[in-house]
Amino acid sequence: MTIQWYPGHMAKAKRQMIEKIKLIDVVIELVDSRIPESSRNPLVDEIAADKPRLLILNKADMADPHVTSAWKDTFKQKGYSVHSVNSQTGEGTKAIPDLVHQLTLKKREKLESKGFNARADRALILGIPNVGKSTLINRLANKKIAKIGDRPGVTKAQQWIKVGKTMELLDTPGILWPKFEDPDVGLRLAATGAIKDELVDFQDIAVFLLKTLWMSYPETLSDRYGISDLPPIEAEPAIEEIVELFDVIGKRRGCVAGGGHIDYDRTAEIIVRDYRSQKLGRLTLERP
Ligand code: G4P
Repeated sequence: MTIQWYPGHMAKAKRQMIEKIKLIDVVIELVDSRIPESSRNPLVDEIAADKPRLLILNKADMADPHVTSAWKDTFKQKGYSVHSVNSQTGEGTKAIPDLVHQLTLKKREKLESKGFNARADRALILGIPNVGKSTLINRLANKKIAKIGDRPGVTKAQQWIKVGKTMELLDTPGILWPKFEDPDVGLRLAATGAIKDELVDFQDIAVFLLKTLWMSYPETLSDRYGISDLPPIEAEPAIEEIVELFDVIGKRRGCVAGGGHIDYDRTAEIIVRDYRSQKLGRLTLERP
């Protein structure tokens, strides 16, 4: 469930996050592999500043594996500990406790040098709505944890879930709002379904998708919509070229209104739904 974020929500979410982070040793920042940068909220840097962080690219099954690999390298070069998973099937999730454990090594050594036994590593999953936080918590917990909505302020008693031998996970995720400032970031979020559909225009998203996919995956577009002559391009196509593409796709998919005109709303919805349901394949919308 995605909600619209108001300043009050944001302030409350930030306060709650700061309180939660005091309890934990490692922040697990969850992002969407299809938009690894756009699905982050830069506030994490401020909130989690002094805690070790594991960056997890979720929904790896939906993204282009080559681009995911490139993103992982880029994040590693920036000093992050990075991992990619499919929380729905659990692929990659078993490695998480060990990765978290590596990040607490220094703290544990310090405690042990003073003669204390280090306790389990306490972790929290944090991210914007819809990146798969609840799915990953359920996967790691091996059972269904009651979902609280993505509403800051809706709280329940927090519990620690034991994951493997070394890790304890907070059963409620930390939720931050998506970034709104940059229009392209907004379109990427909307294309992946991270922003409520009522708040976005499908034609805007479809135009953005066609531009992006034409530049990065022309063959995929050609194959899916039976377009034989889609030339590879370097620069962003002009809007006139996109309208032509809309016409072809609309016609092929039977989106023709009275008078033989293309129904652009229906065409746009088909394009967006095709992307979201992976009928176009595993396509990443931004590159490092
Ligand atoms: P949130 O807590 O961060 O808000 O996200 P949530 O777990 O609710 O996941 C949002 C949607 O993403 C869900 O789909 C969920 O099944 C899907 N999802 C989560 N992780 C993965 C993944 O690694 N791969 C894929 N392919 N999908 C993932 P939904 O359609 O909203 O719900 P549902 O139909 O699964 O119930």
